Amino acid sequence: MGSAAPSDALRSLLRGKDPILVLTGAGVSAESGLATFRGPGGLWEGREPTELATPEAFEADPDTVWRFYAWRRTQAAAAKPNPGHVALAALERGRGNVLLATQNVDGLHERAGSVRVLRLHGSLWRLRCTAEGTEHDDMNPDLSPLPPRCRCGALLRPGVVWFGEALPAATLSEAAAAARRAALVIVAGTSSLVYPAASLPVAAREAGAYVVEINPEPTPLSPLVHERLRGTAGEILPRIAEAAGIEPERPA
Ligand code: OAD
Repeated sequence: MGSAAPSDALRSLLRGKDPILVLTGAGVSAESGLATFRGPGGLWEGREPTELATPEAFEADPDTVWRFYAWRRTQAAAAKPNPGHVALAALERGRGNVLLATQNVDGLHERAGSVRVLRLHGSLWRLRCTAEGTEHDDMNPDLSPLPPRCRCGALLRPGVVWFGEALPAATLSEAAAAARRAALVIVAGTSSLVYPAASLPVAAREAGAYVVEINPEPTPLSPLVHERLRGTAGEILPRIAEAAGIEPERPA
């Protein structure tokens, strides 16, 4: 059983100076109105991830894959950071020594003000040329006509990590090093089903970190954590920031 109040052990780590690693997933953006992937109403309900989020799917049908990502860009552009995103940005700014590794591609952490962000699964806003491999950011949600093309004429693809693809090596190794160094790991809003992201808190625990999970539902990680805070990210993360001695802030 978990509770919703941070323990004394957690409070003391939050008030200390030792490194904190935060790992987030789609649940952190749920209160911004963005659907998670799994479960009722999730993006993968009634959709086949292999038909939308694999290099093979893109090669076979770039139009369909791009329609899915263009729609997600529109949703993300219309969404606003919620109190969970805002609390994490405040924790980084107010406490320091906080690194955020996110599986989210929506950019809401950055829009809330988080600076030290490792994007494990890339970004919805990044476009990559399928011929040259060059990347650029394009924040305009309207990419019509779809599929977008590079100036060189080749197709552009979303700069996200698809199933079957490796995570960006430097980003993953930075996250793994942070997991080994961290005194505290806060895992929020992820089903902990997708690897290698899901292995980070386990590695951190093995290296001696105190691991806390914030999620209204149990996950495969739950039995392995020191503390479960049952509740939503928008509800619990502001309490975490408060426990670190940081004044609550209002969403931008
Ligand atoms: P999932 O959809 O798998 O899991 C979302 C988690 O958030 C679940 O455990 C929910 O219980 C929890 N949740 C829901 N609402 C919440 C809230 N308000 N506050 C806190 N938690 C909440 O999403 P991810 O774990 O992010 O990858 O999925 C991991 C990866 O799988 C994604 O990055 C994506 C997906 O397929 C790719 O596309 C490669």
